[in-house]
Amino acid sequence: MSDAMFRLGFDSPNEEIQVDPLNFKGKFPSWLKGNLVRNGPGTFRVGEQTYRHWFDGLPMLHKFTFSGSQIAYANKFLDTQAYQSAMNEGKIVYSEFATDPEWTLKDRIKNFISPKITDSAKVNVTKYGENYMALAETPLQVLFDPETLKTLGTFSYEDNLVGQMTTVHPQFDGQHNQAYNLVTRFHQTSHYQIYQLGPKLQPKRIASIPVKKPSYMHSFGMTPNYFILTEFPLVVNSLSLLFWLKPYIENYRWLPQNGTRFTVINRDTGEIDAHFEHEAFFGFHHINAFENDGELIFDIAAYENPDIIKAFYFDQLKSPEAKIPFGKLRRYRLPLQKGSIRYETLSEVCMELPNINIQRANEAGYRYIYAVSVNPNEKMNFYNQLVKVDIQGKHNATWYQSGCFPGEPVFVPRPGASDEDDGVILAVVLDENSASSFLLLLDAQSFQELGRAEIPQPILFGYHGAFFNANQDQGETQTHD
Ligand code: CO
Repeated sequence: MSDAMFRLGFDSPNEEIQVDPLNFKGKFPSWLKGNLVRNGPGTFRVGEQTYRHWFDGLPMLHKFTFSGSQIAYANKFLDTQAYQSAMNEGKIVYSEFATDPEWTLKDRIKNFISPKITDSAKVNVTKYGENYMALAETPLQVLFDPETLKTLGTFSYEDNLVGQMTTVHPQFDGQHNQAYNLVTRFHQTSHYQIYQLGPKLQPKRIASIPVKKPSYMHSFGMTPNYFILTEFPLVVNSLSLLFWLKPYIENYRWLPQNGTRFTVINRDTGEIDAHFEHEAFFGFHHINAFENDGELIFDIAAYENPDIIKAFYFDQLKSPEAKIPFGKLRRYRLPLQKGSIRYETLSEVCMELPNINIQRANEAGYRYIYAVSVNPNEKMNFYNQLVKVDIQGKHNATWYQSGCFPGEPVFVPRPGASDEDDGVILAVVLDENSASSFLLLLDAQSFQELGRAEIPQPILFGYHGAFFNANQDQGETQTHD
């Protein structure tokens, strides 16, 4: 990665701005009405200090409002304890994913007695009923106002926040009414817990599975009848988290000899239905899961090992020799009665930050996955193209432009569409040539550009976002728009 590229995507703090409308070039889909809200780091710098890893940083929300003919843009830092302390004290005060504050021994003892839990909810956004929430792997989720992006307060699944982690990928039921999430509680005997969360934000624990050494799981699978935990052998000794001598993720150990274990939990009873042992691998994202013909089938972006986490340290990203490991699409089949586990690699294409048409969640015949990818012709240690993977036809499409670095593609279906890919793809793209970012609109069917809206600054590389429809919410209630 070039120095300029690194500076634009990982180093230059973003300004809070509002632009209405953004300068747009191209053809605007007049049916596209609503808000795209994206989450990610707004800065990696605090005073003289810098975070160490792409998954650190202080969170900023970005909102693109589509009104049928134009796009308004606004962004705002989440006004969290971690943000306020950093601004007031001019240094990193809270531990993040791979960065600890510069602690003295006294600080460490203080943190052991009364741990400071970060509320840097920077990884994703979602909506429960009328509640918009910025999501973190740490227990504090942050509520925000979708109009002003102002921070409203926090939510947690349990009162005792110490020794608890969750995922930023809750799963929703078919009516989009109840959400489910994995909350791992670290203790002498740790537990994987599944919580159900309705529109009124009253969490209900529906499963609790004891585990000796919890796995680092960024997501999980869900079908109409089952939860699937993919326990990669990247595991932690809970005591090590309790003493916290190193940043969070560095307490985890890769033990490939243990293999990966799939734990299938019955959604009705909350009990384990089956365990499956398999060779070691790693992944962040479950993509889709379904039940078909006596099998539990799920797709996942899989890696040979967790080196991808190392690849996102800034010293690696800055290194011209570094190469990013490729996540590849694997389909796992677990027999619901008798038989053995099978998998196949469905595509050799590099994919990460995968998305689908969520209306096709749990559908056996779903066909398309949209993701960031690496152009094989470029020597690159970061994502530099978008890909549309066709699971059935194998006719993949790509969007690539020299010097451009797209973030997560979000699919928005056209109202009334029947084809799975009838809609648009929205992605924030960093353009090295203009030293700024733009919002890219692609026709999801042809994967050709519809247009782009210029943002008057480079936006640091973010993680996940969601589109909130202005006309009908994702199935359930009216939005404020
Ligand atoms: Co994720």
